[in-house]
Formats: sequence, structure tokens, C-alpha cells
Amino acid sequence: MPTLRSASSGLQLRNKRPKSDSTTPSKKRSSSRFKETKATPQSDDAIGKIAKCKVISSPTTSRKRLYGDEPVQKVKWNPKDPAQMKAVKEALHVATVPSNVACRDTEQNIIFDFCKECFKKERSGSLYVCGCPGTGKTLSLQIVKSKLLTWSKEVGHDMLDAVSINCTSLADTSEIFSKILEKFEGTCNPRSPLQQLQCIFSKRQSLPPKMTLIIVDEMDYLITRDRSVLHDLFMLTTLPFSRCILIGIANAIDLADRFLPKLASLNCKPPVITFRAYNKDQIYEIIQERLKGLGYDVFDSLSLEFCARKVAAASGDMRKVLAVCRRAVELLEAEIRDSCELQEFHTVTFDLMDKALSKAFKPKNVDTILSLPLHQQIILYALVNLFNRSKKNYTTIGELNKTYNETWKSIHRNTRTAIGAAEFINMCQGLSDQSLLKLGQSKEEKLRRVTLTVDSSDIAHAFKGNRFIQDCKHLAE
Ligand SMILES: Nc1ncnc2c1ncn2[C@@H]1O[C@H](COP(=O)(O)OP(=O)(O)O)[C@@H](O)[C@H]1O
Ligand SMILES: [Mg+2]
Repeated sequence: MPTLRSASSGLQLRNKRPKSDSTTPSKKRSSSRFKETKATPQSDDAIGKIAKCKVISSPTTSRKRLYGDEPVQKVKWNPKDPAQMKAVKEALHVATVPSNVACRDTEQNIIFDFCKECFKKERSGSLYVCGCPGTGKTLSLQIVKSKLLTWSKEVGHDMLDAVSINCTSLADTSEIFSKILEKFEGTCNPRSPLQQLQCIFSKRQSLPPKMTLIIVDEMDYLITRDRSVLHDLFMLTTLPFSRCILIGIANAIDLADRFLPKLASLNCKPPVITFRAYNKDQIYEIIQERLKGLGYDVFDSLSLEFCARKVAAASGDMRKVLAVCRRAVELLEAEIRDSCELQEFHTVTFDLMDKALSKAFKPKNVDTILSLPLHQQIILYALVNLFNRSKKNYTTIGELNKTYNETWKSIHRNTRTAIGAAEFINMCQGLSDQSLLKLGQSKEEKLRRVTLTVDSSDIAHAFKGNRFIQDCKHLAE
């Protein structure tokens, strides 16, 4: 459930839609410009089914619509069929806008109702939407925007306009005002775009501009560069003739509290809607929903459940889920290429998902460790072994050299000679240069202190399945 904090500038936020608000065309109108028509019952009905919305126009992104929500006849999944494989990868692509969006109805309805109220009363307002990455904020706002434009055409004779601005694409933070100004015309002619907007919204215009929904995504970028921009932006909605419904989206939960104190003192701090991280059941449902339109089962349900559990425990980020599922499908593709025995209808199994997940959740030092020369890998392996045995987290170069020699002998059984002492010190220096371990100072080389600067579990992870170092399970213990 989303949380909604603070009160809007004079607007009451409701989770429930008013029973009569647009289902009674003959009811008294709340404004001179807002006209309800016979189309309203359908449009209101559509609000409840917001997640079923089919057409999502997104002019600012290259997102594509993949498939409709018509019932699809089950066909057999054949990973050898290039067309099927392409469709699966597309359904799992982050840039693909799904036609069925599960688990965000409540949040979308709250935002929709808020904007609808502003529009009907011809009053400005602002909302702040926050939540961790990959929780469907951008997607939900695109859906709400599309729904609102459709609704306004039906009930208000096209009196609502909308603009989406992603702050990462701004060359300069103040450019946001010129982007907004493109939507407004007025009889003011001062200097900067911000001043023009302030002037337009402070005076009664002979021809008032359209009510405009302004979605400002990745708003965090405005904080880091210039706090006043963020403040001026929200202040636009407090001006007497403002026509903006401003929705700011960012990851930070306390952005409104921290950066908009003046708005709070004016009692017009934007209400906050928090998108909580998806839990395992939601992730499972969302991914099933995204794949439903394909008409065939690509994944074993156990493998999907495993992915959902793992990502939910780590972050609840849908972007990660999509990336892992795509990777698992690519692994299946590779398996099919390399084997002629696989049956046609082979789905993504638990094992393949496990491989995809371990790649996605691989600790960051593992690649560095794996790209080291064998001798340096064995030095690291020996070092962790030594720490485990001695129950200490430091040693000396001399001690480490001894353990390295023993380890080398046990791996190569005297078939290859270990490196000499001078080369060993060079190797340790190399590891220190790569920030994998730290070497202390001492007059005698062999007494220099050695400590690890990476987690020993990263080393254990890197050597898992290594053909030279077969048994290193105890490293992680
Ligand atoms: N409820 C959902 N149903 C289907 N796909 C979702 C859902 N939530 C997120 N996604 C997908 O996850 C990815 C990240 O979503 P996005 O809205 O960009 O997250 P945020 O803006 O919170 O970082 C997108 O590809 C989006 O389509
Ligand atoms: Mg986003």
C-alpha cells in the first residue's frame, strides 16, 4: 500500500473515488470550464481498471508497446524458434511498456484522483512521488498521464495538457523552466523563463492557459545541482493564477521534508506517495503478467519463484528482475546452440536461473580476482586459508610466502615450481596496487604486515568451481 503524507494546498486527497463525482452528468459543475458529459461513466469506470490500460503514449522515450491484453491461445514454447525468442526478449526488455501493469493500481488511482480534482476545480497542486529504483514510478506516471489525457478529452473538451521532463536530460537545472514555459503563453515579457512563468501565474490572463500536468522525473538531479530550482519549481503551484499540476518523482524519501521547508511554512508542502519495493509475490505476479501475452510458458514456475525471492530479498527492483530473466533466457539459448540433444520445448530451469542470478549478484571484486595471474590468485587463496587457520586478520609476508609454497605444492604436487621470494614480493605488491590487499612498512621485507582489503567471501566466490583450486568451500566459513 502506498503511503500518503501531508496535506495539499487546499485539496483533499482521497483514496476512494467520490460516488457521484463523474457518474452523474446532471450534477452541479464545479467550474465554468469543466464540463461533464455522458462519457463520464465510462471514463470513471476506466479509472478503476487503470492497470488494464492498453495504449500508453510516451513521446519522450523510445518505449514500445508489445502486445495487447486479448486472451492469447496457449502455444508450445520453442526456444529454437527465432520469432518466439525475440518476442520473449522484448517482453523482458526494460524499455518495453507492458500492457498489463500489476500491483500498482492503488498508487495510480491516488495520483489519478488527485490530478482529476485539480483539473475539475481548475486549481494548481503538487505531489511528490518517491521510492527505490525499479519500483514502477516512471511507468505508473506514464500510465496515469495517458489515462488523464484520455479522460480530459472525454469530459473536458481537451482542456488538459501534459509534459514529462526527465531531469537527467537537462543541460542545466534552470532549463526546466524553459521546458515548462513552452506549454504556457501569457502577456508577460520579463527576462528569464522562470520570471515569465511567475508573471503568467501571478496575473489574471485574458485567455487563461490550459491546466497542465507537469511530470518531473529523476528530480534528485535538481537537488544536487541547485536547491533553489527545486524550490522555485514547487512555488509555481502556489501562485494565485497557477495552472500547473506538478508531480515530482525521485528516489529520496525525505526530499520534500529536506528541501522544501518554505513550502511547508506556507502550508503547501506536496503530499508524498511512496512506492514501496516489490515483495516476492508481487515480483512473481508482475513477471507472469508481462509474459502472459506471449501465450507460452518460457520459465519453470520454480525458477521464476527463485528469481522473485532473491531479488525481493536484495532490493525489490523490477529492473534487476527483468535483467536476470533475460540473462536466463540467453543462457538457455546458448545451451541449445551447444547441444543437439535438447528437446524443443525446454523451459528455463531452476539451474539456469541460479546461474543468471549468481552473475547478477556477483560481488564487485570477483571479476578483478578472476582476471589475476594464477600465482596471485593462489596468494589470495593462501592468505584467506591462513586467516581461517590462525583466526587472525593479518599476517606477514614471510608467513604468507610459506603458506603460498605449501598451497602451490598441494595443488601442483611438485610438477611445477613455485615462484621465488623476490618475485613473490612483487606479486604481493601488484595485489596491493589493485587494492586487494594492504602491505605495511618494515625494514625487513618478510616482516611486512599483510591485511586483506576485500571481503574474504569475494575470494571464495571467485574460486568457486576453479579447476586449480577445487576445494575452497571452507574459505567462506
Ligand atoms: N508493476 C509493474 N508491471 C510491469 N512492469 C513493471 C512494473 N513495475 C516496474 N516495471 C518495469 O520495471 C522497469 C523499471 O520501472 P520504472 O517505472 O522505470 O521504475 P522507477 O521509475 O521506479 O525506477 C521498467 O521496465 C518497467 O516496465
Ligand atoms: Mg524512473
